[in-house]
Amino acid sequence: MSTDRHQDPKAWFMQARFGMFIHWGVYAIPGRGEWVMYREHIPAKEYAGLADQFNPRHYKPRDWVALAQDAGMRYMVLTARHHDGFCLWDSKTTDFTAPKTAAKRDLLAEYADACHSMGMRMGFYYSLADWRFPGGLYCYPHDPAIDYEPMVAQAHAQIRELLTGYGKVDLLWYDGGHPGGIWRGEEMDAMVRSLQPEIVTNGGPGTPGDFVTHEQNTDGDPRPWEACVTMNDCWGYVPSEKNYKSVMQLIGTLVTCASKGGNLLLNVGPAPEGRIPAAAADRLRSIGKWMRVNGEAIYGSTRTVLRPPSEVGNATQVGNRQFLHIHAWQGSTLAIAWVGNRVTRGRVLATGTEARVEQKGDRVWLHGLPQYAPDPDISVIELEVEGEPRYPELRFHF
Ligand code: GLC
Repeated sequence: MSTDRHQDPKAWFMQARFGMFIHWGVYAIPGRGEWVMYREHIPAKEYAGLADQFNPRHYKPRDWVALAQDAGMRYMVLTARHHDGFCLWDSKTTDFTAPKTAAKRDLLAEYADACHSMGMRMGFYYSLADWRFPGGLYCYPHDPAIDYEPMVAQAHAQIRELLTGYGKVDLLWYDGGHPGGIWRGEEMDAMVRSLQPEIVTNGGPGTPGDFVTHEQNTDGDPRPWEACVTMNDCWGYVPSEKNYKSVMQLIGTLVTCASKGGNLLLNVGPAPEGRIPAAAADRLRSIGKWMRVNGEAIYGSTRTVLRPPSEVGNATQVGNRQFLHIHAWQGSTLAIAWVGNRVTRGRVLATGTEARVEQKGDRVWLHGLPQYAPDPDISVIELEVEGEPRYPELRFHF
């Protein structure tokens, strides 16, 4: 018997460090974001007409998986159903689904097949709240006059469908769990874990999950955590919104998450016909190039005691190996300090250049580095030290 059975089946999640978030549904058609129904107060009947136009001819989830893999992403999370109530899958609970409207296909099944056959960890985003129900405007506090039960029953039934009809589900990403206290959360969590015992979740309504989600921030958390972040300023497809972060910023965000022992779930909002916008795809390919050289400094990373000046760079640790991620390259010599171990080696990942190490106490100079940044985005230097990396004894004088 292999020792695999002793390994934590959920451990993959906190090694993965990088995943793809996908916001996609009928709201891609107006192209004004996944909140368009709410923001423009569109009646459910009128909004339902979008489903009659939602026929994504260019939807090829294998291309999405291939792009995510190329970017170095290790898991994917697709909006199975957002707050608007439209189901990408063949739900028996409603007619507002892709198979029963213009698409006439179970789009979620195709996504699940693509992930499973291509070895990608597969996750579903699921919004408990559904705007089409009384009380579904989840930003409102609990209202005793509302009967929430039809919406709650739908959530239980739909989650059951999602976790029984699509093979192994690695991750369930809950959203919209307000107002609290209505969801029969413990019963829901017990169902989820009995149907998919190895699943990781970001916490059901009122029940702790396996990790916590930080939306649009990389502050970190003592618990296992993930930051979900947009590439431009929108989750869903908004073609006119072009405020994309640069590749350097996106890699920097990934490094920040990794340096705090967290994951980055980076969002894309595909167009109605199923294509990921070129601005996003191009950036993912560039991140992928960087990951192929520097991924060993990201996957499985933990916090480290190494603290390069934040103006210059950041740091991660994988096992006993420490990595400096330099965004402001300093030329042929790099100075760092507050190093608690003897440094035995410094190596530039992009070029293989071995640095000449000079050390005086906690101060370290790496000489003989390339004059110009070896990587146009962030250049990574691996440091080898004697013993377990530690912080030097604090000295309160200079
Ligand atoms: C925000 C948005 C929601 C999106 C979520 C992702 O809550 O309002 O639409 O799905 O972020 O974390």
